Amino acid sequence: MTLQELQEEHKASLAAVAAASAPEALDAARIKYLGRNGLLPALVKQMKDVPAADRPAFGKELGAWRAELEAQLAAKTAELRQGAAQGAAFDATLPGRWRAEGVIHPVSRVIEETAAIFHRLGFSVADGPDIETKFNNFTALNTAPHHPSMDPSDTFWFDPETLLRTQTSPVQIRTMAANPPPVRIINPGRCYRRDTTDATHSANFHQIEGLYVDTRPVSLADLKSTLAYFAREMMGPDIGVRFRPHFFPFTEPSVEVDFTCHVCKGKGCRVCKQSGWIEIAGAGMVDPHVYRHVGYDPEKVYGYAFGMGVERIAMIKYGIPDIRFLYENDIRFLSQLR
Ligand code: PHE
Repeated sequence: MTLQELQEEHKASLAAVAAASAPEALDAARIKYLGRNGLLPALVKQMKDVPAADRPAFGKELGAWRAELEAQLAAKTAELRQGAAQGAAFDATLPGRWRAEGVIHPVSRVIEETAAIFHRLGFSVADGPDIETKFNNFTALNTAPHHPSMDPSDTFWFDPETLLRTQTSPVQIRTMAANPPPVRIINPGRCYRRDTTDATHSANFHQIEGLYVDTRPVSLADLKSTLAYFAREMMGPDIGVRFRPHFFPFTEPSVEVDFTCHVCKGKGCRVCKQSGWIEIAGAGMVDPHVYRHVGYDPEKVYGYAFGMGVERIAMIKYGIPDIRFLYENDIRFLSQLR
């Protein structure tokens, strides 16, 4: 067959599909051209007899033909099926199909709003992988070799050097190792811990890490004012923050950060267990040991870091009583938070 004849057969096959007005005619066309003994497979077999110089053009034409024919067959099948359905049972009095409208998930919303707030303070968004090295997740973060957080009962390990990150703090290491100071980033992301799921715990949750390191003095007061600004922007103008002394291996001093209870505004209620405060984050001044692991000179830089629980913020901001609501993706629940 010549190339021209091939093109004519190609056209004829499309015409046959277009003319089919019943599924039977469509099937006949499919069998004639694409069936096991059909024209196209036969032509493919004949390719070896085509002079080598003409073979690319033939091959190209055959490929285009098959693609076009298959697409047309699919389109025509759908068209005939729809026509049949309408003809058989079209009831103009039936109500339209209800379609649930999507909403931005509260976890995504908290992350987006947080990124926007910190953007106004000059922070950019950094990223890091969920699968981390022991070095980035623990060692470089000054975590002692046998610290309980490394225990296989708390952490998902792939092998002795690789794990699902238990916190977003390894992004601090990645950011500093790759960039000279100053760095000013936040990093939202998933974290994994072998926790049993209950109303406030999940084995897979989100944190937002923050890191600011500079060659000019940065103090705990800067950290506090930054988080206070964030608290007001995120939760409302009458929300304050307080620091409580704490310990993290990678910050010194370390604090836990509470926001004023948004329900009672600090008076004390059931939600804050009468304390007037709600725990939101861990934070502190970056420990000199961490700087050494990323090649920064601890004598020359100053910085703070913080890590906030995203579900925590979403739950208090939107009054969600159980963390599991955030993972079920029930549109009836999500659409209330519009
Ligand atoms: N990574 C800590 C946690 O998961 C939180 C934290 C981040 C504390 C940064 C201090 C500085 O609990």
